[in-house]
Amino acid sequence: MGARTLTQRNASKMYSKILLVALLVRVVGGAGVSSSKPALSTGASLTVSAASSASAMTTATSTPTSGANFPPVGSIPKDFSPAGLEKLWDLVGPVEPPPFTTTVTPTSTRVILPSPPPPLYPTFYAPAPKDVLPNLKFPSGFKFGVATAAYQVEGAVKNEGKGPSVWDWNSRQPGGVIDNTTGDVIDLNYYLYKEDVVRIAALGVTAHSFSISWARIFPFGTADSPVNQEGLQHYSDVIDYHIQNGIAPVATLFHWDTPLALSAYYGGFTSPQVVDDFINYAKTVFKAYNGRVQTWYTFNEPAVYCGQTAGYPFNATLTPGVNASMAPYICSYHVLKAHAGAVKAFREMKIQGEISLKNDDFTGIPWRSNTTEDALAVERHAAFHIGVFSDPLYTTGDWPTIMTDTLPPSYLPRFTEQEKQDNLGSADFFAIDSYRESWIAAPDDGLAACVGNMSHPLWPECHSVVLFDSNAGWAAGISPDPLSETWLQATPNTLRSYLKDLQTRWPTKKMYISEFGFDEPFEAFWTDLFRIKEDVARTNYLMTYLGQILLSIHEDGVPIQGAFIWAMMDNAEWNSGITAKFGIQHVNYTTLERTYKRSALSLAEFFEAHLQS
Ligand code: GAL
Repeated sequence: MGARTLTQRNASKMYSKILLVALLVRVVGGAGVSSSKPALSTGASLTVSAASSASAMTTATSTPTSGANFPPVGSIPKDFSPAGLEKLWDLVGPVEPPPFTTTVTPTSTRVILPSPPPPLYPTFYAPAPKDVLPNLKFPSGFKFGVATAAYQVEGAVKNEGKGPSVWDWNSRQPGGVIDNTTGDVIDLNYYLYKEDVVRIAALGVTAHSFSISWARIFPFGTADSPVNQEGLQHYSDVIDYHIQNGIAPVATLFHWDTPLALSAYYGGFTSPQVVDDFINYAKTVFKAYNGRVQTWYTFNEPAVYCGQTAGYPFNATLTPGVNASMAPYICSYHVLKAHAGAVKAFREMKIQGEISLKNDDFTGIPWRSNTTEDALAVERHAAFHIGVFSDPLYTTGDWPTIMTDTLPPSYLPRFTEQEKQDNLGSADFFAIDSYRESWIAAPDDGLAACVGNMSHPLWPECHSVVLFDSNAGWAAGISPDPLSETWLQATPNTLRSYLKDLQTRWPTKKMYISEFGFDEPFEAFWTDLFRIKEDVARTNYLMTYLGQILLSIHEDGVPIQGAFIWAMMDNAEWNSGITAKFGIQHVNYTTLERTYKRSALSLAEFFEAHLQS
């Protein structure tokens, strides 16, 4: 068990030092800092850093590969008593208690927004948010959304009967999180949710996409284990409070925080046992909140989640017989069975509303226009990153043929005819976390050298993501905080063609931009609020993306019905901790006070001018 060396709320100076050291390591040419977005692939990391020429592409390295502390999977017997729960928490170690343990009632249910920030630029250079494409409006009912996830904002991880999740455990493994942030307290949204709701209501937000923590509802995860009524009641209150404040609750059942019990009992999503346990959890939640939640997601970004199972430290929690190379694909198979089973139950139970899952990533653009190999590599990228879950749901019921042609059934289990039928149509809309788009390049030694060669470093995906163009080495867009540099760039210019491409490949009657956002470069360095609030890169990112979304709807006919900004506030950004900042609100980790940044107020102005009542 990795001992915690610092607590999250008094360590901001320490984080700056960590980041400085990390940056120095980069400057002198050492290993890069960790990326929060592992690829589905188990081969070498596919995401390459921008360099001055293709031959100088460097592969980003990340966290340690061993040293995680976890008992052999299957060695802990099921014991659903309080003592049994404590034994599971022992796998995590000591937890920092929150400073208070009751829900805070806001002093006023009406938050008065601060006066708007002065214009960023002269209008000849950039219009005010309300003046971006002023004649275009969003279709009626369009959701102005913000997004969060349970582990990243709730805190109170051991309160009110919750069981541990894999992220409670991971955050304490050596090198698991770059600044040792845990979810123990973080934003304490668990007890401060009312304040958070009234703050977003004041911005004019009409929907909040949050996730439910499985381990709060089933501390032991399994279908034969007891339901935690306190956890069930908590989300009931959260949902009601959103509705009372005119904000539609949008609920995700699984945002990567697998109950640790399931890893201990059978290896989580690398075991077929997870399917029934997930469906049982889903049914419990559907029944409890039916009629109040109208938009549901089963899984958040399953390709990213399943990619994580292969990497440190989660590779210490695999089902016996499953190795890290196969884990992402075996996980994907179980995710799809769990998704399809949950949707079947949703429909049989006649639950109101709509349901889907959230995709991540992009289809891609050929890096070199003069080679068919790069165009073929794009097809591989699209298949492995979006097709993997979208072909089954929207077009064929089955895996993309690129995947079945490459991966043997021992890696990628094949669907039966019945399973294909269950997959196809098991989504009411298409949801995409469309953060960025990049170029895709075939391997230097050609596709043929990779596709049939399991020992090729790029197998099985057999392509690289390139962040700079093949002509003069210009970046695809401005860079985010260095902690996200391996995967994120601001790429508004290609957003329209990207969304059109999704609509062509996986046609849908309704699309949500279920997450998009940007971590302001070096924001964690600042201590003065006036600097922190001036999140120029994020504001530009959001305004340009939203303009493109308007054009996608009006010019391209893409049926987008909502856009959800990641994130409602600063939070625990997975293995980047609180050093990478995605929030449109700052969180002071000493006082837990929230402060609107420029981006939040720009969004309020933009949507006020572009939403139709
Ligand atoms: C998404 C993920 C979020 C958040 C965001 C920024 O992929 O769903 O939890 O971390 O990326 O990295």
